[in-house]
Amino acid sequence: MLKRNDHRPPPPSTGGGISAEGYRRLTHFLEKQCGIVLGDNKQYLVSSRLRRLLGEFGLPDLDALARQVDGPGQQDLKLRVVDAMTTNETLWFRDGGPYRLLQEHILPELEKRRLPAIKIWSAACSTGQEPYSISMVVEEYKARHPGSRLGDVRITATDISPTALAQARAGVYDEAALGRGVTPEIRDKYFQPQDGLWAVKPRIKARVQFMALNLKDSFARLGKFQVIFCRNVLIYFSPQLKGDILDRMADALASPGYLVLGSSETPNNYSDRYRMVRTRHGVFYRPKDHPDD
Ligand SMILES: C[S@@+](CC[C@H](N)C(=O)[O-])C[C@H]1O[C@@H](n2cnc3c(N)ncnc32)[C@H](O)[C@@H]1O
Repeated sequence: MLKRNDHRPPPPSTGGGISAEGYRRLTHFLEKQCGIVLGDNKQYLVSSRLRRLLGEFGLPDLDALARQVDGPGQQDLKLRVVDAMTTNETLWFRDGGPYRLLQEHILPELEKRRLPAIKIWSAACSTGQEPYSISMVVEEYKARHPGSRLGDVRITATDISPTALAQARAGVYDEAALGRGVTPEIRDKYFQPQDGLWAVKPRIKARVQFMALNLKDSFARLGKFQVIFCRNVLIYFSPQLKGDILDRMADALASPGYLVLGSSETPNNYSDRYRMVRTRHGVFYRPKDHPDD
């Protein structure tokens, strides 16, 4: 707040209670830290998501926060700003198609290969709906194919948001969250009531391991995967970062591997490492240097 005897004009504000310079600093920080490109007119989004951090970090306004977060140190503040600025929108069996593709095409092909172990990566798992939906599909597959030779399926689920990951690890959801994609039949099979909420059953949870990962960082510690779900996250990044992540995912895919993107996403124009494979059940992407069958 300006003091009575302080006659300096306030910095020009571009809305949302943050100056143009403060907004520039914040967007620069975000893109550098986690790749998220905010664009020119998201001052109100920044304001609504970051205001609550001011009191907690003893900062007078968003400009002070922008200066502090873009400076050296301040690891806790950096983490909290990234956490607050991620969009964790998700739902169960999102778009339907990718899960049918998994059930009807990918898992049968992997079963034919008789691999003892199959690794699936949910690369921006948000609050857990995506990896748990994958785990439920695996469970369905096993139930529909008794005596199946499908190897042991393990799902690695990663995200940058500690808040989303904590909810994902807990695996407990309210009725409204379940209402977004869970049929009563699936609910009765794979969830159990817990204190007025719904908990994912232990056998579905047991297949999923959660960990924090920034997609800007190396994937080397994760090993190789037969299947990668990277859905509805590349949209937040610059063309250059999309290409970099897609290239590194091609290296993280075992051969043959399956990359499943969001319904409006494609590697075209960002990475030339993939070819599209169309199936009756939908589309996936395979690195060009992998065999077709
Ligand atoms: C819109 S959600 C998509 C969730 C899920 N994949 C789906 O399709 O429903 C995007 C997720 O990407 C995560 N995210 C954003 N930037 C990231 C980064 N640099 N590294 C890892 N995760 C990131 C966010 O935290 C958020 O949970």
